[in-house]
Amino acid sequence: MDSSAVTDPTDHIARNEAWWERRADGYQHVHERELPTEFAMWSLFSIPNSELDVLPRELAGLEVVELGAGGAQFSLGLARAGASCTAVDFSPEQLVHAERLIESVTQQDGVRPDVTLVNADVEDTQLPAASFDIAVSDYGASMFADPRRWVPEAARLLRSGGRLAFSSITPIHELCWPDQGVMTNELVKPYFGMHRVDWDGASLFNLTYGEWIRLFRASGFTIVDMVETRPRDGVEETTYRSRGQVEWARQWPAEMIWVLDRD
Ligand SMILES: C[S@@+](CC[C@H](N)C(=O)[O-])C[C@H]1O[C@@H](n2cnc3c(N)ncnc32)[C@H](O)[C@@H]1O
Repeated sequence: MDSSAVTDPTDHIARNEAWWERRADGYQHVHERELPTEFAMWSLFSIPNSELDVLPRELAGLEVVELGAGGAQFSLGLARAGASCTAVDFSPEQLVHAERLIESVTQQDGVRPDVTLVNADVEDTQLPAASFDIAVSDYGASMFADPRRWVPEAARLLRSGGRLAFSSITPIHELCWPDQGVMTNELVKPYFGMHRVDWDGASLFNLTYGEWIRLFRASGFTIVDMVETRPRDGVEETTYRSRGQVEWARQWPAEMIWVLDRD
């Protein structure tokens, strides 16, 4: 962890934008098969949204904002279930892929999916307040943006009673993940002081469990659930996780999906 070297608390935005601009093409190519557009799929272990009780079952007519949408596959899945989606990302290269996928879905379905692309920073979207029923982030804002900035922004965007659901790696995973190397069964980093990790030219964020809870409450959220997803039976590795990481995740919680309602 290199947080002591950080002097500009928002310099991660330029770092991460440049990082994603460089990686967008390769990322979309490598992970294509685990990023479907037919339905919304959560994160590292490819769990369809329909199998998790984290978003409303009936999505028709609901207005969704996806924070850090990448190729907007999650938004496309929700739009195909009837939602009206706004997919926000600061990387023009990622949005080129999103537009390509929107065109592809338009060809398949014979109708353009209800997904609007917005090129913006999720910590300050400039979108109107209280204009969405759902805010969602699958390893987007939730991993690469500062939670002390993007969680209040998500709260601002949601209507009262709206739902925020986002996935990220757990604090426990963070503690057992050396900066350079494979997962260990030992705590290799301090728990307290967890916030920003500078790694491979990018900045990643996490908080202690207590800090997450206090941030949610201070931002006007009520906690509904925190789902600890696990690899499915038979899965040995994914395009996101090696065999060792999958094996680790069978024993300890690697990933969390927070489910929150706006007061
Ligand atoms: C791992 S992708 C997540 C997208 C998608 N759910 C997926 O799994 O591919 C992370 C995305 O978040 C975007 N992102 C990171 N920080 C952001 C910020 N501050 N504002 C807007 N987009 C951001 C990146 O450009 C990237 O497209």
